[in-house]
Amino acid sequence: MGYFLAVKKVDPKFFPDMESIKQNADEFGIKVYQLAFNRDLHKMYCLCHSPSKNEIVEHLKRLDIVCDEIVEVEEQNSPSNFETISKFTQIGQTIASFSHDIRQSISVASLNSRLIKEKLSTKDVEQIKIYVDRVEDAIKKMNRNVNEILDFVRVAPLLKKETSIKKLLDESLSEFVSDINISFRLPDYDVIVSCDDEKIQAVFSNIISNAISVKSKNIIISVSDDSSFVNIEFLDDGPGIPKQNLDKIFEPLFTTRPSGTGLGLCICKNIIEQHNGTITVKNDPTRFTITLPK
Ligand SMILES: Nc1ncnc2c1ncn2[C@@H]1O[C@H](COP(=O)(O)OP(=O)(O)OP(=O)(O)O)[C@@H](O)[C@H]1O
Ligand SMILES: [Mg+2]
Repeated sequence: MGYFLAVKKVDPKFFPDMESIKQNADEFGIKVYQLAFNRDLHKMYCLCHSPSKNEIVEHLKRLDIVCDEIVEVEEQNSPSNFETISKFTQIGQTIASFSHDIRQSISVASLNSRLIKEKLSTKDVEQIKIYVDRVEDAIKKMNRNVNEILDFVRVAPLLKKETSIKKLLDESLSEFVSDINISFRLPDYDVIVSCDDEKIQAVFSNIISNAISVKSKNIIISVSDDSSFVNIEFLDDGPGIPKQNLDKIFEPLFTTRPSGTGLGLCICKNIIEQHNGTITVKNDPTRFTITLPK
């Protein structure tokens, strides 16, 4: 027997702010104690006492309800603690997902280095080159994963150098295989900024990847500058961001995508603020604007 907290995203109009229920155990041995509802996050929390997590999952399955997460909690927590518990669980899941990705890259790298060893005696250079490329790709992927974690917790120092904004944009765009139409509005000279090129490129990639994931057809990237600042604006023609989400999208773990981690824009904001710049968003149409000091 233990206490479990089930969390589900729901439409705010269907639920009251909070409800306390003391139910007798149902036929599965599950006792529901409390229902809480967070209107801002559109989430419902249900605290129950059950023989095991599995009982709750099976019970919900029969009712056709899919919860976003079910976590075991130490004791009967007050509803005000629900959000904290849920955030920590999500952070745990995010770290688990990073670890999973890194572990996968490690096994790709180990397998291919073993294959290289086996092929060395055959001198089959072409095949060896394929394996070496795979090891290199796996290392690059792990490097990206680790950088994402470091950007999230903001511990990696900046490595600044004079960088062409157009070059960074081109490098970011080359990462994507998509039929999205990209157009530029650029000054007729090369805009140079002192920045950590890898980090700023990661920011551009995140914003472009978001526009692609909401199925935008066109992105217009505009760059303008004066003697001390540069503005880079990304405008897309996707479905837009609902007004009530505008001030939440930079929060860690806020996502509306089933496969999203909700870290992309939080990482972007951290990186831009580390550069003493700003990143803002406007709606209709969706427009992200980055301002960086030169
Ligand atoms: N161009 C856009 N158009 C519409 N909504 C957007 C756009 N960019 C961001 N969003 C909204 O902001 C949310 C947060 O974006 P963010 O990049 O932080 O996380 P994510 O894309 O959901 O997940 P990931 O961590 O994998 O990037 C998205 O889930 C989406 O709701
Ligand atoms: Mg994203």
